[in-house]
Amino acid sequence: MSSPVWHPFTQHGLGEDIPLIERAEGAALHAADGRRYVDAISSWWVTTHGHCNPRIMAAIRAQTEKLDQLIFAGWTHEPAETLARALVDITPAALDHVFFSDSGSTSVEVALKMALGTWLNRGEPRHRIVVMEHSYHGDTIGAMSVGERGVYNRAYQPLLFDVDTLPFPVGDGDRTIAALEAICAQSPPPAALIVEPLILGAGGMLIYPPHVLKALRDICAREGVLFIADEVMTGWGRTGMLFACQHAGVEPDLMCLSKGLTGGAIPLAVTLATRDIFNAHLSQDRARMFFHSSSYTANPIACAAANANIAIWQEEPVLDRIGALVHRQARQLDRLDHPLIVGKRQLGTITAMEFVDPYGDYLSAMAPMLGRFFRDNGLLLRPMGNTVYVMPPYCIDDNDLGAIYDAILAAALEMAA
Ligand SMILES: Cc1ncc(COP(=O)(O)O)c(C=O)c1O
Repeated sequence: MSSPVWHPFTQHGLGEDIPLIERAEGAALHAADGRRYVDAISSWWVTTHGHCNPRIMAAIRAQTEKLDQLIFAGWTHEPAETLARALVDITPAALDHVFFSDSGSTSVEVALKMALGTWLNRGEPRHRIVVMEHSYHGDTIGAMSVGERGVYNRAYQPLLFDVDTLPFPVGDGDRTIAALEAICAQSPPPAALIVEPLILGAGGMLIYPPHVLKALRDICAREGVLFIADEVMTGWGRTGMLFACQHAGVEPDLMCLSKGLTGGAIPLAVTLATRDIFNAHLSQDRARMFFHSSSYTANPIACAAANANIAIWQEEPVLDRIGALVHRQARQLDRLDHPLIVGKRQLGTITAMEFVDPYGDYLSAMAPMLGRFFRDNGLLLRPMGNTVYVMPPYCIDDNDLGAIYDAILAAALEMAA
């Protein structure tokens, strides 16, 4: 009997094989048919320390013995309190309030709603949001509205709200910076700018320099526009530092975290906010509260997993491990020398490149063809269009890392043949 499961970002009509995974450990996924796959993209960028990390699994087990779930409106529990304090300690100093949710998209919705609520409560309603070309912030209506428009969201475009879009920074980023200056000079000014710091993930692993991020932040600070850093992908060491904003010395007004927050073990997200944003909602008047919630807000088991993740960061040499991976990735990328492979680039633990594509868009045959090739060669490596990227768990060993790049080279050789 065929499966009733409807998978995300999957065209079931193409009849692709869907591997059935039974267990995972470190960077390896083990299928029911006995095959082993190297997880080269950290299962959609979430798995940081490795699958089934023993400390995170133990924390989850221990929490299941105590408290499974609790309404979070007006009630609280120790795992959430501990986690919120730890997050305030390790994130930029200006961020001192933590709002919980359950996915990256939701953390973005929360940030956008907090920005608009702040302006309304200040008695100066503002609605315009500024975004960067090629951005991706999730798949809910608000998150899609602030992301790139394309085939992914064509059906919903009539519902998406208008935004002001900065060109993606090229060269020294002057055009991008000037565009933000011009937008801020309009009346009324925008409510907020939302950016993926230093690297646009789903937009194709596009990298831009820290000084541009800093310049955008400085303009927002000067013009009183709220600055939202979406660190859903970049957070938790992916770019070589704990958070990407640190490369630019940038302190956002709002920061979205998810994915690696629990080491990638279980869904959880947070939106961190400054005291000013919290205070804009603080009142004796119930109508000024922040109107957002979801059933599983701050689920205790997920919070326990996140606390274990933070303990790993504090007690193990995670940054050293990441630093070594950055060099190992650079060495592997360097040996990819083939005319069909262009645009090689790296930020921290992430490498990316383009395969020269005779068809030229996301729906071309290239992505499924490469995806199938990699799967047949024992890899979970899912190209985006003709962009192939490698974002492994930090624990990956040299054999598995080498196997990823061997397969990429083999794919180029086969396509050329
Ligand atoms: C930068 C960024 N923001 C938001 C999201 C959405 O996160 P989620 O898939 O958990 O909703 C993603 C997902 O890849 C992302 O990369």
